[in-house]
Amino acid sequence: MPRIAYVNGRYVRHSDATVHIEDRGYQFADGVYEVCEVRHGVIVDLTRHLDRLNRSLGELRIAWPMTRPALILVIRETLRRNHVRNGLFYLQVTRGVARRDHVFPPAGTPSSIVVTAKSTDQSAIAKKNANGIKAITVRDNRWDRVDIKSVGLLPNAMARQQAKEAGAQEAIYIDQNGMVKEGAATNVWIVDHDGNLVTRPAEHGILRGITRTTLKDVAAKLGVTIVERFFSVEEMMKAREVFITAATSICFPVVSIDGETVANGHPGSMSQKIREAFFDVAEKTAI
Ligand code: PDD
Repeated sequence: MPRIAYVNGRYVRHSDATVHIEDRGYQFADGVYEVCEVRHGVIVDLTRHLDRLNRSLGELRIAWPMTRPALILVIRETLRRNHVRNGLFYLQVTRGVARRDHVFPPAGTPSSIVVTAKSTDQSAIAKKNANGIKAITVRDNRWDRVDIKSVGLLPNAMARQQAKEAGAQEAIYIDQNGMVKEGAATNVWIVDHDGNLVTRPAEHGILRGITRTTLKDVAAKLGVTIVERFFSVEEMMKAREVFITAATSICFPVVSIDGETVANGHPGSMSQKIREAFFDVAEKTAI
């Protein structure tokens, strides 16, 4: 069964899907994206993902490519055509196609839109949850608007590659004061010695992850306190638990950082409880 992508108004075979060479996403990384989980045949937290898309587009003054209800129809149809029950959809909106010029194209230039969908390997995810993952720390070398979910991900790709070459799966960004920011494609959490869930405030140099936001609802249900504050690398290394969150993985326990064992080297009970409670709490939209 061939994969199908939605590209600027048409459903096409994934292998034949193309965008124009002067698309501003291609030339200037002038675009934004969302990744949203699909589990047990429903879309998870769609409203929050589309609200964040709206914010990202607004911050960069990129026009919606179509109305929000129309986009939801396209997302559903793309998922249906790809028979996704457990996986994700990816959507990308760019400022459109125009002769190369740094300034914005003329008003009325249509935004470009691509939606893809794929099933994910559930056994690989289960393995990471059972064993935990390894991370490295890296200096943050990104621009200061990482609150916008822009497709300009070269520093993130470099950091992930660095992690891979060190035998790890995630790179954790550290600010100039030695405080933890977030992962290359995840938010970072610790369980401190009072049993609180701690994560960096989203106003300061990180992306406001949707999983991060929904985790607040999960914590309320579990009766766990969330504290949004800065925490240092030293505190993270001594934390009871460390885990990372993203729409693609809910939460993966971290058991090693920079080659040193953290959290006794075993996945903790808090990340497991959160993972188990997450789906019930999250918003579910039928495909
Ligand atoms: N990344 N921080 C960064 C830098 C991210 O790229 C992501 C998501 C997150 C977590 O956000 P959310 O919970 O909304 O997925 C935090 C996606 C999955 C990606 O780039 O593939």
